[in-house]
Amino acid sequence: MTAAYNPMDLTGRRILVTGASAGIGRATAVVLAKLGARLVLNGRDEERLAGTADRLDGHEENGGHAIAPFDLSDLEAVPGWVKGLCADDAPLDGIAHCAGIQTLRPIRIFSAAFFDEVMRANLGSALALARGLRQKGCHADRAAMALISSTAATAASPGNVVYAASKGGIIAATKGLAVELLSDGIRVNCVVPSIVETELIERGKQKLTAGQYEHLRTLQPLGFGHPDDIAHMIAYLLADTSRWMTGSIVTVDGGRTA
Ligand SMILES: NC(=O)c1ccc[n+]([C@@H]2O[C@H](COP(=O)([O-])OP(=O)(O)OC[C@H]3O[C@@H](n4cnc5c(N)ncnc54)[C@H](OP(=O)(O)O)[C@@H]3O)[C@@H](O)[C@H]2O)c1
Repeated sequence: MTAAYNPMDLTGRRILVTGASAGIGRATAVVLAKLGARLVLNGRDEERLAGTADRLDGHEENGGHAIAPFDLSDLEAVPGWVKGLCADDAPLDGIAHCAGIQTLRPIRIFSAAFFDEVMRANLGSALALARGLRQKGCHADRAAMALISSTAATAASPGNVVYAASKGGIIAATKGLAVELLSDGIRVNCVVPSIVETELIERGKQKLTAGQYEHLRTLQPLGFGHPDDIAHMIAYLLADTSRWMTGSIVTVDGGRTA
């Protein structure tokens, strides 16, 4: 019998998944493990990371997945942390960077502290991880990074402009990093989701009326997204299916920007 055809096979690949303790990152970890990848799961909440690990294919049999709690907002420490992950095991074949924060906040209450918090967590972390991955011994001969932007960056998102700016930065970073990291054999692409039902949205919902929430739902002709809708695209961007893509900005938004 021939093996089933699977162009997204990730058997033997070692991939760091950030934001793996919740939402899109957790769904991405589940999908990547099903495709055969060996994962390093990052977030800050160790208990919730262990909860993700328990859901992964292959976790109990070979203990192949690892948990690495770490605050990615500590930008200066990120490259050394990545170095340590690789020194302890093997170089990474990819990073699915799903960690991020969002707090709705109108510009009338803008503050430098809020700006720093959001920019560090969403944009600074991506840049620091890129620096970490390109270090000697930290990436396989051919590796890939999948970043997450947002339609908040490509369609007006009032009351949310600091987040939107951080996600616009992800688009700019994807393009620049893609070219800068060509010689390191690292491809860099990003996904642009519209609203996906995760804890991040659940928290925002508490500030909205039922009418406002319904309005958000109808922004996507196909309704709210499911975390797997983004996880599948991230898997595509880390697997050989996307070997001819770098610097691409891939919209997965339920038709929001159609
Ligand atoms: N949901 C949506 O509608 C939507 C739409 C467009 C884009 N996105 C983007 O997609 C990504 C995932 O969103 P989500 O909805 O899955 O969010 P979520 O459910 O709130 O999960 C966020 C994840 O990020 C981790 N995280 C946050 N700050 C961190 C830090 N400083 N260091 C390490 N980990 C950190 C959290 O882990 P701990 O709590 O354990 O630290 C958690 O695992 C984010 O970048 C978000 O901006 C989401």
